[in-house]
Order: sequence, then structure tokens, then C-alpha cells
Amino acid sequence: MLSEKMQNALNSQIKKEIYSSYLYMAMSMYFEVEDLSGAASWMRIQVLEELTHAEKFMNYVNERGGRVFLEALEKPAFSWETPLDAFSGALEHERFISASINELVSLAREEKDFMSDNFLQWFVAEQVEEEASVSEVIRMFKLAGGAGGGLLMIDRELGSRVFTPPAAE
Ligand code: FEO
Repeated sequence: MLSEKMQNALNSQIKKEIYSSYLYMAMSMYFEVEDLSGAASWMRIQVLEELTHAEKFMNYVNERGGRVFLEALEKPAFSWETPLDAFSGALEHERFISASINELVSLAREEKDFMSDNFLQWFVAEQVEEEASVSEVIRMFKLAGGAGGGLLMIDRELGSRVFTPPAAE
């Protein structure tokens, strides 16, 4: 059985994961209006990934006999100065999520809740990937200068991303 403190912390993380999908959906819509369909598609895949993260947390809370309480979401930003700006915002957000996962691990260890600690290790590894994949896109934008043919090439590259459900990884 989960402690109330751990249950509350996991519920707060579920909200953060769902908010992540909401934020990336907003970024996808921004890229649509900028005619960057590859970047829009990349973000839509990110939306799906975040929902699978939320689902993993929800399943875990249920399996441990806890209760999931869905919280209200804030309104995400809807516009960014440049594509690079949007991806920089995504990196900043992923770092925030990584810090939040680290806090959850600390709490699990404080409470000697080793089941939660073990469950959370998947997310510790996943956050390495999450930060690395956004950083890679930022690097591409910086190298290409963010305009003209370079931008088109990056957009095409981003459009080739496919969604891989975690179970199939
Ligand atoms: Fe669910 Fe992108 O962290």
C-alpha cells in the first residue's frame, strides 16, 4: 500500500506528465501555423510519449492499491519567438520533469518504499533520453542557423520520427 504522502506525490507527477503532453500539443500547433509540419509531427509524438508516461504512473498507483486524483491543468503558452525558442522551452521543461522525478526517488528512499524506488528507475533512465533528444534538436537548429534551406532540412528530419510505445522498446 502506498503512503498518503507518496500517493499525493505520484498524483502530482501524473498531472505534470499530462501537462507535458498539453504543452507539447501547444508547441505542435505553433509549428503547424509556422508551416513546419515535421516539427509539428515530432511534437505530436512527444504528446503520445507523455501520455504513456502518465499512464505508467496511473497503472502503478492502481496496482499499489492507491487512488488517482486528476488535478486541474494550467493553460500552456501558445506561441514562441522562433522554433529554437520552442525547443529550448521544451528542454527547460524536461529538466523540470527530471528534477521532479529525482524528488520522487528521494521521497521513496526516505520512506523506505523500495517498490516505488524501483518503479521510478525507469523514469530516471527515460529522462536521460528525454533531455538528450530535445538537446539534439536544439543542436541541429543552432548549426543550421534556423532559417532557409537548413530549416527545411531539419523539418524533414524531425518529420521522420515515429512513435514507439514503451512496451515495444
Ligand atoms: Fe514525461 Fe518528457 O517527460
